[in-house]
Amino acid sequence: MQLVKSVRAMQRLAKTWKRKGVKVGFVPTMGYLHAGHLSLVSRARKLVGRTGKVVVSIYVNPTQFGPKEDFSRYPRDLKRDLDLCCAAGVDVVFAPRDGEIYPAGFSTFVVEESLSRGMEGASRPGHFRGVTTVVAKLFNIVQPDLAIFGAKDYQQAAVVQRMTRDLNFPLKIVIAPTLRESDGLAMSSRNRYLQGELRQKALILRRSIQAMQKKVRRARTPIASVRAKSEVKRLFAAERAAKLDYVEFFDPVTLKPESKVKRGVHMALAAFVGKTRLIDNARL
Ligand code: PAJ
Repeated sequence: MQLVKSVRAMQRLAKTWKRKGVKVGFVPTMGYLHAGHLSLVSRARKLVGRTGKVVVSIYVNPTQFGPKEDFSRYPRDLKRDLDLCCAAGVDVVFAPRDGEIYPAGFSTFVVEESLSRGMEGASRPGHFRGVTTVVAKLFNIVQPDLAIFGAKDYQQAAVVQRMTRDLNFPLKIVIAPTLRESDGLAMSSRNRYLQGELRQKALILRRSIQAMQKKVRRARTPIASVRAKSEVKRLFAAERAAKLDYVEFFDPVTLKPESKVKRGVHMALAAFVGKTRLIDNARL
């Protein structure tokens, strides 16, 4: 496995592969890897085959964090990540320094203006501008044939898919399912913040989704979204476990809010468990 730290070296490698017709699968990450990330790596390997190359980027992107968010304390452990990538059969890890990605005078950003407006976009102003900018840059640097994103960040995957289409990036976006801990908590690098009783309390996100799945599957008629939202708020209030940031019921393709909640509608929510902000989503 090769560790590449500069944009130039990565682009040179990408060019060589292109010339030889080697298929490249790409998994962008912010590191502190877990089994969820590694499931994207195996998906990439399956798709490019033994003769293809799998590239993982590890970069905690400052522009997607708000001023009051956890950029500086976001968990980082490059050595551990490299071991995990090596064991997972990754060919190249691209781990640039900030100065490589955002050199002095950097002033160009990519903004998706529709799918990125609600939910995470509304709650974290500027977040998706940072995501689309860094992902566009990474696509230009790695030049993959396909890139794998996790359904755990459902809106992010949709926004990246739209950007890829709108800006004609010549690659395919693949969305892979959310990996969970055995008790149902969606795997996340931020789970590392959940000390003591908070770990147990974090299960409220998954439990409220399951409660709504059950409700929708039992109901004979669609449920008004206002009612469904109050139900989730009630679950959170009863548990006093976490502070709900938002809950949304929406069309899985357009991400437009649905006024009637029924089977096939998608549910996403964000909540603070202690100081840690977690998200989860699923189809109802
Ligand atoms: P990060 O949070 O490190 O996630 C990297 C990729 O792993 C994303 O596509 C995310 O959806 C996926 N992922 C995270 N947890 C997962 C889980 N439990 N199951 C399946 N996939 C999971 O998302 C980012 O980084 C950044 O925003 C990035 C796209 C790298 C841009 O900076």
